[in-house]
Amino acid sequence: MKLIAPSILSADFTRLKEEIRAVEAAGADWIHADVMDGHFVPNITFGPMLVEAVRRTTRLPIDAHLMIAEPDRYIPAFAKAGATYISVHVETCVHLNRTIQLIRDAGARPGVVLNPATPVESVRWILEYVDFVLVMSVNPGFGGQAFIPNSLAKIKALRQLIAENGWQALIEIDGGVSSKTIAAIAAAGADVFVAGSAIFGSPDYGATIRGLRDKMNS
Ligand code: DX5
Ligand code: ZN
Repeated sequence: MKLIAPSILSADFTRLKEEIRAVEAAGADWIHADVMDGHFVPNITFGPMLVEAVRRTTRLPIDAHLMIAEPDRYIPAFAKAGATYISVHVETCVHLNRTIQLIRDAGARPGVVLNPATPVESVRWILEYVDFVLVMSVNPGFGGQAFIPNSLAKIKALRQLIAENGWQALIEIDGGVSSKTIAAIAAAGADVFVAGSAIFGSPDYGATIRGLRDKMNS
């Protein structure tokens, strides 16, 4: 089962409720929420208050992607706000097992994220404990950037590692997902596809999501 997770980073924030309802009606599986602190990444977005507002607009799972330093300080607040999934960057966690356990203890499903230049090996010993691994295929901070091609090899390596060991972790991909890149990403072995500008920048969300789904299943 492959899933599509529109990133609200590219939504019109003056109409956020309508935007979320529109992608939900258009067949979105998860709502991806990009949390940025202006410290780990060179941009600032939103925190738990907005996630809580999103929670009240949709029944879809909320996928909170934390691009923040010291995520342990904020994980309980994001879980309380209603995040279903919470992912943290391996680059921000000194004691990653503890952080993953903190997410579970807070009642959310944990994921770990790799920047484009961070090796697969850095998550080798946490993969069996997470629900998903998120591969960044752009440098985090902004929507609308170009897909970094060697992310495909990274997905393949992760897919093989997870299969060999019989682990359950899903593979999520984030950055530059579009009708041009999604077929190759799906073939490499991704399960969850984040798309921001490709969906919210299009005139017809339903047609766009159908198009992405056709290509990822072909
Ligand atoms: C980037 C964010 C992404 C972003 C993707 O830092 O993590 O989720 O919204 O945007 P697109 O799909 O436009 O590359
Ligand atoms: Zn993201």
